Amino acid sequence: MDKFVIKGPCKVRGQVSISGSKNSSLPILAATLLFDKPVIVQNLPRVRDVDTMLNLLKSLGSNIQFSNNKKTVKITKTKKQKQFASYSIVKTMRAGILVLGPLVAKYHKSISSFPGGCVLNGNSGRPINLHLEALKKIGMKYEIKKGYIHAKSKGKLRGSIIRFPKISVGATQQLIMSAVLGLGKFTLKGVASEPEIKDLTNFLISAGAKIKWIGKRTCQIIGVNSLRETKYSVMGDRIETGTFCVAATLAKGDLLIENFDPKLIKTELNILKKVGAKIKLFKNSIHIKGPEKIKSIRNITTKEYPGFPTDLAPQLMVLLCKASGTSSITENIFQGRFLHAMELQRLGAKIYIKNRTAKIEGNKNFIAAEVMSSDLRASAALVLAGIVSNGNTIVTRVYHCDRGYENFENKLKKIGVKIKRLK
Ligand code: UD1
Repeated sequence: MDKFVIKGPCKVRGQVSISGSKNSSLPILAATLLFDKPVIVQNLPRVRDVDTMLNLLKSLGSNIQFSNNKKTVKITKTKKQKQFASYSIVKTMRAGILVLGPLVAKYHKSISSFPGGCVLNGNSGRPINLHLEALKKIGMKYEIKKGYIHAKSKGKLRGSIIRFPKISVGATQQLIMSAVLGLGKFTLKGVASEPEIKDLTNFLISAGAKIKWIGKRTCQIIGVNSLRETKYSVMGDRIETGTFCVAATLAKGDLLIENFDPKLIKTELNILKKVGAKIKLFKNSIHIKGPEKIKSIRNITTKEYPGFPTDLAPQLMVLLCKASGTSSITENIFQGRFLHAMELQRLGAKIYIKNRTAKIEGNKNFIAAEVMSSDLRASAALVLAGIVSNGNTIVTRVYHCDRGYENFENKLKKIGVKIKRLK
């Protein structure tokens, strides 16, 4: 397993270009199963989860052709289309479940494995009940046998009013994709409104899907018979952008972060301003300078968009460890998302966890040590901690990082971080 070694403390200066969004690419790629015509997807990040989704599509019979830059892919349906999503592919990535709805919508049957992915929810795992219950309401019947969901429908999925009892990004995406080729009108209430969901709907609309947003948490879809050929460029990655913003703030840095619309991370940027970052916004870039002294901040709570994202909470925690004073973060989305706190303590962090809240006492002196990544965003947080630790921080299990950050160590090297990968 690869490791990162970061020789800290490092200066963070220069320019960084943001990659396409992983969390947008995955549903958009899954949605290509709905098409008969070819689809071109541009600005894909070459990260492990995207490769896993492409492998899953290949295993389902789609033909995948890359352009020279490897970030554009043409996906064409073949005559050998299958409806079996194997555990061997889906086990490493929760978003694998997103092929279920499109397969049933298009072929009226599917056998899909229960998904894998980051372990973030304590003992409650990563449930998919919201996906299954909503799909059932629009006509999907299913049985669970040996870790697989055996699903079918009598013809097209049928329009209905669905009210989600809890906001879920994945279940919202699943239902939008399942409805576009359905019969009649689907009204989805209590949906997630993350920018990645809007990216999915914009992609589907570009191919002729009839999707309308009515207010913030209601989405209406009228089924169409087929989708037409389309070419679509995936939005920039919000969490990668946020991670580099935190890096600059943490390390008294000076960064120009390009290829991202700052309007999409207003909440995050406001928090960074409050802790002392100096930020200038442009149409598609952010200039951010870190303060001499980081201020503490209390009562940060992770929430659904437009709230503070759970996927940036571990990185923010590192920043608050270096603040003067006491801060707190409450995790509202995933119960088990504090594993990185134990690793940060190995570097000198003073973090006290009670229920869903972490109290963080600022401590300027991080001493490098070996730390282990427990999930994707935790691995990025530990790398950030290495940037401001004295000595060589070794971050193990960086395969987590490779799932979601494109070219992470090369981008960091370019802005002055002394990082290398040990194979
Ligand atoms: C997506 C993101 C992930 C992010 C999360 C929250 C992708 C590929 N992943 O994950 O990076 O951290 O949104 O912003 O886009 N839940 C249920 N039943 C379900 C589904 C979810 O109880 O059927 C719960 C989850 O356990 C969690 C909460 O709902 O507590 C939110 O999860 P959800 O929004 O579905 O996250 P994902 O789509 O898995």
